[in-house]
Amino acid sequence: MADVEDVKELKNFHVEVPARCEGFFLKGSNSLGWGMKNRLARIFHPGTGRTVMLAIDHGYFQGPTTGLERMDVTVPPLLSYADTLMITRGALRTTIAPEFTKGVVLRASGGPSILKELSNEQIAVDVEDALRLNVSAVAVQVFIGGEFESQSVHNLTRLVDVGNRYGLPVLGVTAVGREMVRDARYMRLASRICAELGASFVKTYFVDEDFETVTASCPVPIVIAGGKKIPELDALKMAHRAIQQGALGVDMGRNIFQSDAPAAMIQAVRSVVHERETPEAAYELYRTLARKPRRRRT
Ligand code: 5RP
Repeated sequence: MADVEDVKELKNFHVEVPARCEGFFLKGSNSLGWGMKNRLARIFHPGTGRTVMLAIDHGYFQGPTTGLERMDVTVPPLLSYADTLMITRGALRTTIAPEFTKGVVLRASGGPSILKELSNEQIAVDVEDALRLNVSAVAVQVFIGGEFESQSVHNLTRLVDVGNRYGLPVLGVTAVGREMVRDARYMRLASRICAELGASFVKTYFVDEDFETVTASCPVPIVIAGGKKIPELDALKMAHRAIQQGALGVDMGRNIFQSDAPAAMIQAVRSVVHERETPEAAYELYRTLARKPRRRRT
């Protein structure tokens, strides 16, 4: 029986303390529901408002990409340095321990391999499975100007509709076809379309000129892809310039996992993204960490 005598009666309603009414820390996200915001706060570090996403979803169209041939070997040593993983459901289930409690952005579009027309993607994950996996967002490729542009845009809008039903954010990934010019004009067009059609955040490539106009004209956070492997210092310079020009993080893959010292590289990237370290200082950090012998796991 519940206690009914000698119960503590002295209540404190803190009447002198006004109720807090604060905005959400992330650009363009204040009107979202609690679940959506909570998931975004697992992707973007609430302390800095930025994120280091480790992109390891390349296998969904490329197969065993260099550096990811054995994800069970090469990925776990990097996990503690990533805020979020971008990954397929097959790799998540087989490679990542369920004790991993940071953000997971699930690759949710796919279909063609590198042997076919890449823009011909469909939605490749049921939202129920995404929720079963307890992911923080789903990612869909959008091919503006591509052969199957409308189909890929509809993939995005369908996922946005179903994501809104369950509080699941959608990352719009702007894919640039081989024949297209990677400039600010194209990135503005593609990222703005993703945002207007409901993406909670957008992934684009960094462009050398006027990148700040891409971030300024996109009403939701932008994270940049790393792109093909370049020298470490150049990748750190790119990340630094992107952050300086309004990107809220990186979603970097090959420039981390194809580095000679991936764990050192991701820590250097973190220092640029979260501590606004200069690329030169971050590169020094990379070199120092890369020289340290790796601890043997027992
Ligand atoms: C594939 C993707 C990848 O996640 C993306 O390309 C990021 O990886 P990288 O830094 O290697 O470019 O979206 O379509």
